[in-house]
Amino acid sequence: MRHRTAILISGRGSNMLALISAAADPAFPAEIALVLSNRVSAPGLALAVKAGIPTAIIERNGATRECHEAAIDGILRRQEIAFVCLAGYMRVLSPFLVQRWERRMLNIHPSLLPAFPGLDTHARALAAGVKLHGCTVHLVSEELDDGPIIAQAAVPVLPDDTPETLATRVLTQEHRIYPLALRLVAGGSAAHPGADAALLNPLPTARPGS
Ligand code: GAR
Repeated sequence: MRHRTAILISGRGSNMLALISAAADPAFPAEIALVLSNRVSAPGLALAVKAGIPTAIIERNGATRECHEAAIDGILRRQEIAFVCLAGYMRVLSPFLVQRWERRMLNIHPSLLPAFPGLDTHARALAAGVKLHGCTVHLVSEELDDGPIIAQAAVPVLPDDTPETLATRVLTQEHRIYPLALRLVAGGSAAHPGADAALLNPLPTARPGS
């Protein structure tokens, strides 16, 4: 059975495309039934339309956070959505929506959580001098960038990295682990994420001279 899945975006939509591409395989346990954006100008919306995925836009437009989230929750339920993937959705969710989608909402974050929750993760990783950085897919909980970890991938931090070069290296891994994590959750293999989490550490790029 393929579970109807919605992707929430605010911007570019490259993780959204990775999920759509993975779900094009009929054997994938989730089908992408809806892409929902809180920004009418999100470039990812046009990509979703081009991929033939139904889209919706629910901007906040001065509404209270609860009203905005109630509208989102309403469309997800009307569309009989089973799982929700946040993919560059740049709004902090309130407990109202998080509780309604408990264990059925995933997020991708560009750091090896619990390190560097929040924004500007690549610049902060460089400033901290970490030698490994990466990305995390986790179930959404009421705490920001927290919740049971489903998958992680690490990349080396290279001596001449800038936030942009590091972001590019991490993004390649994001596109790999988000479909894998959705496969685990929708396929029922992540019912106990602590036990079943996939830790992926491909270290794809050797450090120069090593
Ligand atoms: C991704 O790097 C994602 O990890 C990050 O936003 C980018 C969205 O790119 N998400 C967050 O920072 C959430 N806290 P995309 O629109 O191309 O998928």
